[in-house]
Amino acid sequence: MPDILNLRKFVAPEIIFGAGARKLAGRYAQQFSASKVLIVTDKGVIAAGWLADVRKSLEEAGIPYHVFSNVTPNPRATEVMEGAEVYGREGCNVIVAIGGGSPMDCAKGIGIVSSNNMNILRFEGVDKIHMPVPPLILIPTTAGTSADVSQFCIISNRDELVKIAIISKALVPDVALIDPETTTTMDPYLTACTAIDALVHAMEAFVSTASGPLTDMHAIEGIKLVRQNLPALLRDRENARLREKIMLGSMKAGLAFSNAILGAVHSMSHSLGGFLDLPHGECNALLLDHVINYNYDSAPERFKIIAEAMGLDVRGLRPKEIKARLINCVAALKNEVGITRTLCQRSVKTSDIPQLAKKAIKDACLLTNPRKATKGDLEVIYGEAM
Ligand SMILES: [Fe+2]
Repeated sequence: MPDILNLRKFVAPEIIFGAGARKLAGRYAQQFSASKVLIVTDKGVIAAGWLADVRKSLEEAGIPYHVFSNVTPNPRATEVMEGAEVYGREGCNVIVAIGGGSPMDCAKGIGIVSSNNMNILRFEGVDKIHMPVPPLILIPTTAGTSADVSQFCIISNRDELVKIAIISKALVPDVALIDPETTTTMDPYLTACTAIDALVHAMEAFVSTASGPLTDMHAIEGIKLVRQNLPALLRDRENARLREKIMLGSMKAGLAFSNAILGAVHSMSHSLGGFLDLPHGECNALLLDHVINYNYDSAPERFKIIAEAMGLDVRGLRPKEIKARLINCVAALKNEVGITRTLCQRSVKTSDIPQLAKKAIKDACLLTNPRKATKGDLEVIYGEAM
């Protein structure tokens, strides 16, 4: 028998990348013999006009559909259950989602519940889904979350003020229609936060204990694409070429983290997002440099490669110096793209920290963090990010 700990797997959806990809929804739904499609989206995406293209595409393919748009940021378990009820009542057999992470995660949740007939909160953790989900066609309208290529689904439990992570190969979408044009309606702050989320995906995947050659190449390329193009995109938001590069960076980071899993930034950020309903990308951005500071000495060779991918010349420097330069570089990038607040300025109170750490320590993303963290360690990191 091979040593199972040394084996690596890589799963990915069929990916169509490029301007106009969103208009292929009807063609792919047809390939899955769709009799009726549930479109999952939200009010912001509808207002931005992107739903209209998907509707047109399905109409041209002669496929009936029902639109479910009762999805809030940080999608809630109750919304997933309502969507699953609508999916069954309307007799749908394919799901198309268009939007940021929230509609896409909600769509995955609806798929799980539709075929497994249990409350979505019962599927928390790794490989808990037994019945395959219906065909999923995902169209991202932000460049960062990568729910469209990942085996992750994050759902908010508002009763217990916690976010749960559901991780399963069953959640890799069948098709990702990745269309950089859809990101043109993001405001500058959302553009920055979602791209930094992608950067965090790539960095956490690269230092993850489950990283390997199948994911490393995507992680490093993802870091370079975000680092080299995000500030320029924020200065020139109409530039289609730069949008494409950031979308590509997000996709690569997504392929890396979906297969190598994440680390302490995400476990702590899920806790923050569940407890205080804060935006995911911003939570990650506020924590990133502090978690690098905590993790660095557990993977100095990996972080050195990250520093080089961030454009730093680290030749001849000692690990301690590289660590300081990398942390400064991340902090400067955050500043440059307009993410200047601290947790404190986002209404997190020092008295919240024990509760936040208690929830973060249970998050599945912490399993692959390069340094084994205790609840006390997480409390210190939250404190530093105040
Ligand atoms: Fe993320």
